[in-house]
Amino acid sequence: MFNRQHWPNNWVFILAAIGSAAGLGNLWRFPYLTYEYGGGAFVVAIIVANLLVGIPILLLELGLGQWAQAAAPTALEKVKKHFSVVGWFSLTLVFFIVSYYMAVMAWGVNYLASSFTVAWASDPTAYFFENVLQLSSGVDNVGGFAWPVVAGFVVAWLLVYFSVWRGVKSVSSVVKWTATIPFVVLAILIVRALTLEGAQDGLRLFLLPDWNALLSPQLWIAAFSQVFFSLSVGIGVMIAYGSFKPQNSEITKGALTIAAGNFLVSFMSGLVVFGTLGYMAAQQGVAVTEVVTAGPALVFVVFPQAIALLPALNALIAVLFFAMVLMLAIDSAFSMVEGIAAPFKDMWPNVSSKKIAAVVSLLGFIAGLPFVTKAGLYYLDILDHFVSGYGLVLSGLLEAIVIGWFWKAADLREFINKHSDIKLGKAWDVLITYLIPLFLIYLFVITLQAEFRVAYEGYPVEALLYGGVLPLILAPFIALGVKKLTNKERVSE
Ligand code: PHE
Repeated sequence: MFNRQHWPNNWVFILAAIGSAAGLGNLWRFPYLTYEYGGGAFVVAIIVANLLVGIPILLLELGLGQWAQAAAPTALEKVKKHFSVVGWFSLTLVFFIVSYYMAVMAWGVNYLASSFTVAWASDPTAYFFENVLQLSSGVDNVGGFAWPVVAGFVVAWLLVYFSVWRGVKSVSSVVKWTATIPFVVLAILIVRALTLEGAQDGLRLFLLPDWNALLSPQLWIAAFSQVFFSLSVGIGVMIAYGSFKPQNSEITKGALTIAAGNFLVSFMSGLVVFGTLGYMAAQQGVAVTEVVTAGPALVFVVFPQAIALLPALNALIAVLFFAMVLMLAIDSAFSMVEGIAAPFKDMWPNVSSKKIAAVVSLLGFIAGLPFVTKAGLYYLDILDHFVSGYGLVLSGLLEAIVIGWFWKAADLREFINKHSDIKLGKAWDVLITYLIPLFLIYLFVITLQAEFRVAYEGYPVEALLYGGVLPLILAPFIALGVKKLTNKERVSE
């Protein structure tokens, strides 16, 4: 048996897990979805989804990884023969996600480069669509590469590759900064955003829920998938992170700290975005709900606007802010690459981790090229909606079923409790075994039906089929293929 790499101590693990969780999901995805789904109601749904599904599954994943001392496929195989396929399925989704995640990070790289002169100050909207994205006329017009984004994409992949390169140990020196500086920068921007004229209208939208909106299944599926995305759970990454924990280390308090830290980053980011939206609406004399187009472009217009509005030190804050965006994104992307690489490292302990990381990064780079074309924003929007919106819910659901029905949730709970000061009650078993599966299946079916009635964001149906549905359908087949290949590998060992 080879010596498994472990976190130097529990704090490094917690910081690294917050690093994985807090990222573009908090700064970019959370605000735009909250805006899309009408504000406060979505925030309520996020809190409920964290408590009922996110945290219980986070405990499941960390516990499972720590117990099995192996990444997702092997850990699930240990629970029940053949179930490694569920692990490979999640990791296939992670692969799709990292490919477009890096394109969003590439936008961030562009902004960092232009921060020194605050180049967007005169017109943040035009700057984003014309100078950075060079957005084409529609999803059917690829328009060639958007070169600034391509350059950012290369830089982003290099940054991630070099942090993965040194493995788990290298995170320690990085996470101390990446998990603390963001809070300071966000606090500065919150003060500014909240003192802008009109900010209170934005805040009202963010904080006062329209309770009726909570009746929409679409809102709930978006909230659940956002919680999975944001906590990096339901998808194998936290199983890998748990597997790097010594077998007797504390679990529950850590998980709660991770979830709280992660929510705080989203919430702070929401305050800045909605405060600024309130200001923009007041300036233009329109309602906050109408001031910008909802969608993945939202925060790349709003944050630059917030920075341009600062009375002084704009360039300095701009540099700090976009450096922070990249720092947050790096350790999340790192965790995805590490999550994909981990099972292969388990399988081939003699192959250098650098080589494995290089192959994963190279494949991810190639898979991400469509997202750095001039139509990249459209492709990314579609893939994100289907793969992250439905895929994550599906893979979280499968994990809960495997543990609840093919093992016993109570057995895993006993393991978790043995190593934790805060003890989980039977309610956790009921959640994992019955409530989470039932609830997610229900939502999944209802919302998927609706998906066939109205084309998402009015995109042409083919674009949705090829760009969103197809990857989702291919994922289980890819998973089966990888399982087959790696089974052979195990036999011949
Ligand atoms: N949680 C990360 C973020 O919010 C993204 C991520 C998703 C990381 C899935 C790992 C796995 O940015």
